Amino acid sequence: MRYIKDYTIKDVQDVYDGPGGLLWEAVMGEQIHSGGPETTDFLAQKVGLKKDMLILDICSALGAPARHLVKKYGVKIVGIDAAKTMYEKAVERTKKAGLEDKIEYVLGNALDIPYHKEEFDVVWGQEAWCYVTDKNRLILEAYRVLKPDGKIAFTDWIITGEITQQELDPLYDSMSFPYMETFDGYQELLKKNGFKVLEALDQTEEYAKCFDQYYDKVHVELKPAILKDFGQDLFDFASNLVTIWRKAAHEHKVGRGLFIGQKM
Ligand SMILES: C[S@@+](CC[C@H](N)C(=O)[O-])C[C@H]1O[C@@H](n2cnc3c(N)ncnc32)[C@H](O)[C@@H]1O
Repeated sequence: MRYIKDYTIKDVQDVYDGPGGLLWEAVMGEQIHSGGPETTDFLAQKVGLKKDMLILDICSALGAPARHLVKKYGVKIVGIDAAKTMYEKAVERTKKAGLEDKIEYVLGNALDIPYHKEEFDVVWGQEAWCYVTDKNRLILEAYRVLKPDGKIAFTDWIITGEITQQELDPLYDSMSFPYMETFDGYQELLKKNGFKVLEALDQTEEYAKCFDQYYDKVHVELKPAILKDFGQDLFDFASNLVTIWRKAAHEHKVGRGLFIGQKM
């Protein structure tokens, strides 16, 4: 039986509309995922992004990956995110970058995508679907909005090894995750919902190294700023978070998966 916690979209909005969003940006960068622009390029190359393709970025946050992809690959993007602050900042930063004719943002839930079927060439996601309460429905929604033969390309925080409920508890609580998929679980979800799995990569080693960097950043470089801007409680929270996730990643209990699927 999968262990599921009572975290919903409301908790996610509280995190990203509150100081959590700013804290994550400080630690991970404007592209709020482990590895930054390099991992975005890796995913783009794996899925084969081409000029003028229309991409749906599910959980687009500050829109930094979207702006990167538009500039580098000439694609057009729709980004959907449930946190109003992330949505507003994405719109503002995209306008400032002069890319508003190439990227559109929608404030909404990934589980109810406000687009008709078969509109997108690629559905895209980076390290966010771990927040989503029903990943089966998420994959079904992705399938619905993809054109025939369209592709899904995403990375996510996943369970990569044996881990107990007691070990998962503090990890999920620190992130407000309802649950994480497993490496095999995501592949099964893709197949079950009509995708052919083209690629599945366990990127946990790289992910664990990113946590080494985040650990150092929080405890050295960013410590004075976090204490000054967010206070002791948030520093303690961030310190605990990077400590427990780093340990679990090095033990290969949690990590990052990359998945590419094609709509059949
Ligand atoms: C780690 S950030 C995503 C980072 C982004 N993909 C990037 O690489 O910069 C997680 C984002 O997922 C969004 N999110 C989580 N659950 C969501 C849902 N059910 N629907 C829409 N957005 C959601 C949050 O609001 C937050 O902005």
